[in-house]
Amino acid sequence: MDDTKIMLDEKDMPRKWLNILPDLPRPLDPPLSPQTLKPAAPEDFAVLFPMELIKQEMSTEPEIPIPEEVLDLLGMYRPTPLFRAKRLEALLKTPAKIYYKYEGVSPPGSHKPNTAIAQAYYNKKEGVKRIATETGAGQWGSALSMACQMMGLECTVYMVKASYDQKPYRHIMMETWGANVIPSPSETTQAGQKILAENPDHPGSLGLAISEAVEDAATTEGTKYSLGSVLNFVLLHQTIIGLEVKKQLEKVGDYPDVIYGCVGGGSSFGGMAIPFVKDKLAGKEIRLVAVEPTSCPTLTKGVYAYDYGDTAMMAPVVKMYTLGHDFVPAPIHAGGLRYHGDSPLLCLLYDEGIIEAEAYHQNACFDAAVQFARTEGIIPAPEASHAIKAVFDEAVRCREAGEEKTILFNLTGHGYFDLAAYSDYLAGKLVDYELSDEKIKETLVNLPKV
Ligand SMILES: Cc1ncc(COP(=O)(O)O)c(C=O)c1O
Repeated sequence: MDDTKIMLDEKDMPRKWLNILPDLPRPLDPPLSPQTLKPAAPEDFAVLFPMELIKQEMSTEPEIPIPEEVLDLLGMYRPTPLFRAKRLEALLKTPAKIYYKYEGVSPPGSHKPNTAIAQAYYNKKEGVKRIATETGAGQWGSALSMACQMMGLECTVYMVKASYDQKPYRHIMMETWGANVIPSPSETTQAGQKILAENPDHPGSLGLAISEAVEDAATTEGTKYSLGSVLNFVLLHQTIIGLEVKKQLEKVGDYPDVIYGCVGGGSSFGGMAIPFVKDKLAGKEIRLVAVEPTSCPTLTKGVYAYDYGDTAMMAPVVKMYTLGHDFVPAPIHAGGLRYHGDSPLLCLLYDEGIIEAEAYHQNACFDAAVQFARTEGIIPAPEASHAIKAVFDEAVRCREAGEEKTILFNLTGHGYFDLAAYSDYLAGKLVDYELSDEKIKETLVNLPKV
């Protein structure tokens, strides 16, 4: 009988992150200053991030050692298990093998503390006292609240108002870890005040919450900003996921034919895929598929262009697939996938044809997630349900073609704080949103002219 859980001992946890920047087929286009639209110097980022993270953002070292203090905290929940989804395989009557890496075992319930702990550590080391950030669905805010508490830092989280109202338990969780949680848009910042003056009932968006957190950090002494996705150093910290998976699959003598992961800003997908991207660049055959919502189809329908990372045009301008910085995605339940852009690193890999992308509607994703919960037990985060739907389709294709492929996906988090979304799905109340080509054209008119 094959094992259901493939585990690693704590001593087998990877001790170095994998940096893919030196292996890219072409260099990344430089980030631009949002004020001048000229290439930004490392000092331009110093108001937002500690120097060590800025160095990691641009590093050409192939590997970066994980500090002992970070390893010690990661050891609270890492290595995370790799599961063989035997009951799901049986349900789908597929000859394929399905594995999933489960990141929901971390205290906040997702992969996000992998970088939150590292970021809090480097901030503390450079004397920072307080960190400001944003959160959409609440997973990132929870992860950073916990990490700051453990590193002795203060933490302020601007939480997208729609999520703040929809998910009270998420902000109570952050507050339990000692954070100050502010619904966004807020009166605390100029960016928030401007939006509230136009529309006092604005539901908020991730792009806007980023603007508030960036403004807070840039204008408050002793405070820096922290981002839970998109940046190279965030993907770097998340490579611990893929590095562990490789060791786990080696234990059972397997290697994936195809990897699926959901994509919001791209950190969990990048973290899982990058060690395999390295193999692919060295000639190995493997498909790497990013899965996004049809209502926020950044990779599948966006344009590859320079754009602002936030709504108020304060964050650096980066080359990425984008739907436009003032695009407000429809209120789907996978809040963590509602971002207008994507990691520039992943976008380059997509542009080069090294990774692929697919998009699905939320009803189809919840349908797959419920079947997953009924066979494998875990109730998935709505974000992760996108990868699950794609895996269902792949497993069915394998059944029809009689192919014994090895499929791997990233179960990035659990959905135990998302039961209102499951309730809507079970009651048949979930709406699917299609984004028309006209609407996309409209949201792209404000791209910066560079
Ligand atoms: C559980 C979960 N998965 C995935 C994501 C998407 O983010 P990323 O693409 O950076 O992994 C989020 C974001 O909040 C999340 O909470």
